[in-house]
Amino acid sequence: MSHHLASTTAAASSSPSRRPSLTSFPSPLHRPSALFQQTNFVATRTERKPAPSVAAAAASPVSPLHRLEEMSDHEAIPERLAVVTGGNRGIGIEVCRQLALQGVTVILTARDEERGKAAVESLCRESNLSNIIFHQLDILDAGSRASLARHIETRYGKLDILVNNAGVGGVAVDQEGLRALNIDPKMWLSGKAAHLVESVIIQTYDEAVKCLNTNYYGLKWATEALLPLLKKSTSGARIINTSSLRSELQRMPNEKLRESLRDADSWDEARIEAMLSEFLEDMKNGRLEAAGWPMMLPAYSMSKMVVNLYTRILARRHPEMRINCVHPGFVKTEINWNTGVLPPEEGARGAVMLALAPGDGPTGCYFDQTKMGEAW
Ligand SMILES: NC(=O)c1ccc[n+]([C@@H]2O[C@H](COP(=O)([O-])OP(=O)(O)OC[C@H]3O[C@@H](n4cnc5c(N)ncnc54)[C@H](OP(=O)(O)O)[C@@H]3O)[C@@H](O)[C@H]2O)c1
Repeated sequence: MSHHLASTTAAASSSPSRRPSLTSFPSPLHRPSALFQQTNFVATRTERKPAPSVAAAAASPVSPLHRLEEMSDHEAIPERLAVVTGGNRGIGIEVCRQLALQGVTVILTARDEERGKAAVESLCRESNLSNIIFHQLDILDAGSRASLARHIETRYGKLDILVNNAGVGGVAVDQEGLRALNIDPKMWLSGKAAHLVESVIIQTYDEAVKCLNTNYYGLKWATEALLPLLKKSTSGARIINTSSLRSELQRMPNEKLRESLRDADSWDEARIEAMLSEFLEDMKNGRLEAAGWPMMLPAYSMSKMVVNLYTRILARRHPEMRINCVHPGFVKTEINWNTGVLPPEEGARGAVMLALAPGDGPTGCYFDQTKMGEAW
């Protein structure tokens, strides 16, 4: 199967000069205020009532919930407009709900039109919301990305928030076999279950390619398609990339690569793509363990490690925006065959907090739910 990985020859594991650990913040990126580091401001703020519909708010522009600027006689621009990818289920649908409850107009996107529209309908019905709109988006389809960008350009002329949530696990699983193993969530999280699950998890090369394509390339391409609109945000754009605990560098056995990954400033997209090509090559040749790649969900782990790097790269490139990545917690959703322990409502909180972060909030950082994490 062909894949999207670049053929650049830059050696991913080449060893640039070692720099200090980035568990503190890398110097070129914004340092968040002390307040931001210790608070979970979404959890502590009073939840607002559902916002009125765009039409109703347009008729009443003084509404504190949904102030609108007049664009023309027929169109109104919401003060804050968000796109959420993979919004039809799991954490994504909850991000949509919580953002809408905060007065943000949300474009819930899904690759499947029927599933996406059903999700919007259920949110509107269950939470009495009318500020959620559906638009189709398959992040792996260039036509679909362009169509969404065109729609937003024509209708709103800008975008304020992008939550890159869509993702896949990169493995097939024998679900009954997995349930029978009755694995303690702590073993999952620590990675100690890696050998235990070998008998029920099937990792194929094609699944690995799909995982890297969706979780990294799809996220990057969706971001690139929407960046021109985010640049037009009047409130300061926010991009939130969904990462995972699996991205943490302590989980990377290859010491040389681990140290080089810590030096986030030395990475660009070409180098990331070269590393992913090397990873796939080793996978194809059965050399993952020998080469020191992560053995617990290898493709998924790699995809999320590079999401973190890409977040840093983007944040450096766009200091006017707040761009962060977040591990949502171990959440009970389909991606982990419902083995997670947190409800999706909790899993959504980190992304929502970062979407609503103040203008002097952090950028280029990794969050473990609502707390700044120590992944780097
Ligand atoms: N659950 C956890 O414990 C956990 C932990 C760490 C990180 N995460 C991350 O959280 C994010 C959300 O996952 P989840 O737990 O909510 O899992 P989920 O319930 O499986 O949701 C995944 C979503 O991604 C969508 N998607 C997949 N490929 C897509 C594509 N090419 N274009 C558009 N949408 C696509 C799916 O759409 P379909 O319905 O059409 O398949 C679905 O809406 C993922 O990035 C995941 O890696 C989750």
